[in-house]
Amino acid sequence: MSAVHVLNGPNLNLLGSREPEVYGAATLQDIERTLAARCAEKGVELVFRQSNHEGDLVDWIQEAGRAGAPVILNAGALTHTSIAICDAIKGAQAKVIEVHLSNVHAREAFRHHSYIAPVARGVIAGFGPLSYRLALEALFDNENGKI
Ligand code: DQA
Repeated sequence: MSAVHVLNGPNLNLLGSREPEVYGAATLQDIERTLAARCAEKGVELVFRQSNHEGDLVDWIQEAGRAGAPVILNAGALTHTSIAICDAIKGAQAKVIEVHLSNVHAREAFRHHSYIAPVARGVIAGFGPLSYRLALEALFDNENGKI
């Protein structure tokens, strides 16, 4: 693995001020800094992106798939609605770990369904910014090639 793509969907640019009782105080830049430090230790390039637009995420998933780079994906609310993202993961044969800051299963019923989970290698939810770190460690620990 020479690069990992971390892709963030709608409203995640608001982290830090957005519903801090749900999502905590860390900003997306804080999360990026932590992942960048860990990637630097491992000599792996970090591509870290956020968009409020579904099509950007589709393009970026396809790009990662073409490059053979694994994806840590927090698609935000698109997790629960986007067949296009599900199709992009399948179509591009992208290796995706789905992450969420909050425990979506302990929240409203509409957050319990994910279009991404069935095409993801795994799902990590509920640990705040640590969800991203855990996903990264899963990729680094992928010696048996399961991810
Ligand atoms: C989220 C959970 C989603 O349900 C929500 O729409 C988000 C953030 C999370 O990281 O907990 O935008 O993906």
